Amino acid sequence: MSEREKYIQALPFSALIDVGCGTGETVVELAGLCPKAHFVGIDINNDVLSKAQEMLYGGLLTVDADYVCGNCLNMPIASNSADAIMFRAFLHHIEQIDCVFEEAHRILRRNGFLLIQDGEEMPALLFDEMNMALSRSGASKEVHPGFNIDKLTEQLKKYSFVTETVIREGVATFATPPFVSKVYSTISFLLSARKI
Ligand SMILES: C[S@@+](CC[C@H](N)C(=O)[O-])C[C@H]1O[C@@H](n2cnc3c(N)ncnc32)[C@H](O)[C@@H]1O
Repeated sequence: MSEREKYIQALPFSALIDVGCGTGETVVELAGLCPKAHFVGIDINNDVLSKAQEMLYGGLLTVDADYVCGNCLNMPIASNSADAIMFRAFLHHIEQIDCVFEEAHRILRRNGFLLIQDGEEMPALLFDEMNMALSRSGASKEVHPGFNIDKLTEQLKKYSFVTETVIREGVATFATPPFVSKVYSTISFLLSARKI
């Protein structure tokens, strides 16, 4: 088991919201680690949610999950209703990061955990090169070049989140062929911050 998985398995949560859940891989993986927890996956795209729903019935694992269509800037989730929120491979797509932190703060109970799994910041030149290549192939540009952990920690403080731990492990992929001619990736991290 990876260090990241061990850390998540030991977290004391019973209800986790996976924001930008896509086709539900994260929910299924986390349910394998924490089978007693209830999961809610939220995504703005209904098509991926249908696939996520299908995965619940196709697997061997019993997953206690609901999928909801919604925008991360105004989630259809009650305040103080979750003790963990996951943003996996999601935050670097979002322009208004501050609004998402505000929403996460509203939804989490006190002492709840915000888990951000994403990539570290790539050099500006590489980011520009990647976005030019994405534009040439007609694909959407990436919004952020990944994150500087110290800056992210400072930004989270404004919303009363305290960084508890950072685990750097593996790679985070941003753009890959055929949209670009090479793989653009950086070091992957899991940042865990507690709402105080
Ligand atoms: C790269 S995928 C990550 C999927 C999943 N978290 C994973 O790790 O496999 C990013 C997801 O964020 C969703 N997304 C983008 N903008 C969103 C928004 N404003 N509100 C909710 N979901 C959003 C996209 O539809 C997409 O499914």
